[in-house]
Amino acid sequence: MTDLCRTGVGHARSEAPEGTLFVGRYNNAYHDAGRDHEERFPSEVLMPLFKAIMSDWTNEGYDPFAAPMETGTPWGSKNGGNEEAITRTRVAAKRMVGLPGDTPLRTDANGFPANRMFPDIDRSQPVVEPEPGFEGEVWAYNLFDYLSRSDVTWNPSVCSVVGESLFCPTTEEFSLPVDHGNDRCEWFITLSDEIDWEIKDKETAKPRATVLTRAGDVSCMPADIRHKGFAKKRAMLLVWENGSPAIPEMILKGEAPVVAVTW
Ligand SMILES: [Fe+2]
Repeated sequence: MTDLCRTGVGHARSEAPEGTLFVGRYNNAYHDAGRDHEERFPSEVLMPLFKAIMSDWTNEGYDPFAAPMETGTPWGSKNGGNEEAITRTRVAAKRMVGLPGDTPLRTDANGFPANRMFPDIDRSQPVVEPEPGFEGEVWAYNLFDYLSRSDVTWNPSVCSVVGESLFCPTTEEFSLPVDHGNDRCEWFITLSDEIDWEIKDKETAKPRATVLTRAGDVSCMPADIRHKGFAKKRAMLLVWENGSPAIPEMILKGEAPVVAVTW
């Protein structure tokens, strides 16, 4: 399966948000044969449609965001559903996980036990001693402990926000279920274990690279690619990106580069 839908770019801010529904558009065989199709729809039409498809495709006992060994099978005759799993609220910190009034840290007590694949994490929390007047503004927490308690895979959370800079760490196991089409450069910092990446051209789907990233590796996925990841053992990945909504349009106009560094 590949991405079927992209959020819209290029529309005036005063207009309702739109998205493009496409089939074959980003596959050379379909595109060159004139067999592809794309069509713009209001987001308020697309979003309920995709939620309904996801609901219909999900059987009771299957959580599409869980690792395969931690949930039931995705196939079989239609049998119930799992609305709790597919309507799960994605973590999106306003400033930083754990700050007063923001999304909380994960603990055994609030329903986030450590994952079976991270039994040996140092769970000590940093000591934070803000000067008087800065309580609630200066903060730190143990990201390894936090990620080891993630109950989803391939689903980045926004864990800290500085301007448009978004730190979106995640845990990965088995395979990313879609080819993710980038609309901007995307930094990957592999925090633990190993992740294999298959990288293809965004327009044609032609293979461009395979990359094995290990703990400590820093890489930047270009804006003109799609990628699929594989993790034999659950791994921690920090996805870091500039979340500015202006970037996709700047790239289309050639005003922003598709790679992070040129020389
Ligand atoms: Fe991506």
